[in-house]
Amino acid sequence: MANVQIGDFCSLNPLELFQQVTAQGEKVRSLKAEKAAKDEIDAAVQLLLSLKLSYKTATGEDYKAGSPPTEFAPISNGPGDAEGDDFVDPWTVQTSNAKGVDYDKLIDRFGSSKIDKDLINRIERITGHKPHHFLRRGIFFSHRDMNQILDTYENKKPFYLYTGRGPSSEAMHVGHLIPFIFTKWLQDVFNVPLVVQLTDDEKYLWKDLTIEKAYQYAIENIKDIIACGFDVNKTFIFSDLHYLGLSPGFYKNIVKVQKHVTFNQVKGIFGFTDSDCIGKISFPAIQAAPSFSSSFPHIFNNREDIQCLIPCAIDQDPYFRMTRDVAPRIGYPKPALLHSVFFPALQGAQTKMSASDPNSSIFLTDTPKQIKTKINKHAFSGGKDTIEEHRKYGGNCEVDVSYMYLSFFLEDDDKLEQIKQAYTSGALLTGELKKMLIETLQPLVATHQQRRKQITDEMVKEFMTPRKLAFDF
Ligand code: TRP
Repeated sequence: MANVQIGDFCSLNPLELFQQVTAQGEKVRSLKAEKAAKDEIDAAVQLLLSLKLSYKTATGEDYKAGSPPTEFAPISNGPGDAEGDDFVDPWTVQTSNAKGVDYDKLIDRFGSSKIDKDLINRIERITGHKPHHFLRRGIFFSHRDMNQILDTYENKKPFYLYTGRGPSSEAMHVGHLIPFIFTKWLQDVFNVPLVVQLTDDEKYLWKDLTIEKAYQYAIENIKDIIACGFDVNKTFIFSDLHYLGLSPGFYKNIVKVQKHVTFNQVKGIFGFTDSDCIGKISFPAIQAAPSFSSSFPHIFNNREDIQCLIPCAIDQDPYFRMTRDVAPRIGYPKPALLHSVFFPALQGAQTKMSASDPNSSIFLTDTPKQIKTKINKHAFSGGKDTIEEHRKYGGNCEVDVSYMYLSFFLEDDDKLEQIKQAYTSGALLTGELKKMLIETLQPLVATHQQRRKQITDEMVKEFMTPRKLAFDF
């Protein structure tokens, strides 16, 4: 084999190291089988041991034959992907399947774990709360290391929540509420600190926006986030453009991450090219840093060892796969994750709801009339073309956007099941199903608008002020 010098290993990424260990293991086995000279076997074993050590240093974990490090495996996402033609990255979600992205395949590809019945039961047992309907209905469907978080909680050790939002426009849509509604529930049942990052810097880099506009959108979005009911004594909300300039702890962690990720790696993970601006290339470090408690010394009293749990839509996973790869190398715990499905566009689950297409979204600023018109006009229907056919063959809930939205927002399980049966059998017509959705969303949006009206600039400022929260560390 080519002579690999020990000093060369640090230039290898975890996947390359894994391959080297595997190859060297095979070499040792075949030397032994051939009854090669003892010297030769000893030398090969030495090399194997140091390769394993380098692997452990790089990943924080022991080498396990047959399980390559998942965090750094590039996502085979490009067109012509043999797995099918779903495309998922932080900026694009596209599939040709009207039922939406194949989430089981995504779990395989991303190397995460399914949120199964056992995990949901464990959450219920430990917290004493009925699992949120987002868990019961598979809306949060995938995780990394959630069992570790539950162990931590059972051992009465602290953890914290981290989530975020890219403020690309002033108006948020109903899909944007999903992670925040769920995060609020997690914060209530576990009683832990929460940090919320607004990546106004990211939106400035990626979109045609001025810095001032991006920051202004962040402030407007923060009002919608606060309106979800977060407690100011337990929650810190920050804009990158503002907080980065205030916090050496945050910036130091950004630099640590930057030192441990190469251009090659971010190209592999995010698909950056040589002509992307350097702001984009280094941005992932800024989304990674809030995963480490020392980015918030005022909250965690300078502790570096508090683990973090990140609820997010699965398109954000590439950022956190990178973060989890880096964490052990800079001496921090890996963040755990809970992943949600995407919120489908009104036109169908082939893509997610996007605030830049007004017809694809129900905005939090929409009037009852706008909600009604958009749903009636644009919500993709799984119903049949004529009433006669519909009555005879029934509708298809799997592709029907109104039904999908009800599964997000109608909390009553029995009612949802009745609707499903009635629609599938043909007893319930598309117009009637749409009416149920309209009657669910109109009060939900109106209540949100009421709550948002109460949020003053003073309150926003309070949430954004770095300070100790109601937890002692
Ligand atoms: N990049 C995310 C977006 O564009 C925002 C974000 C930052 C985020 N940190 C996060 C989302 C943590 C979920 C969890 O929306």
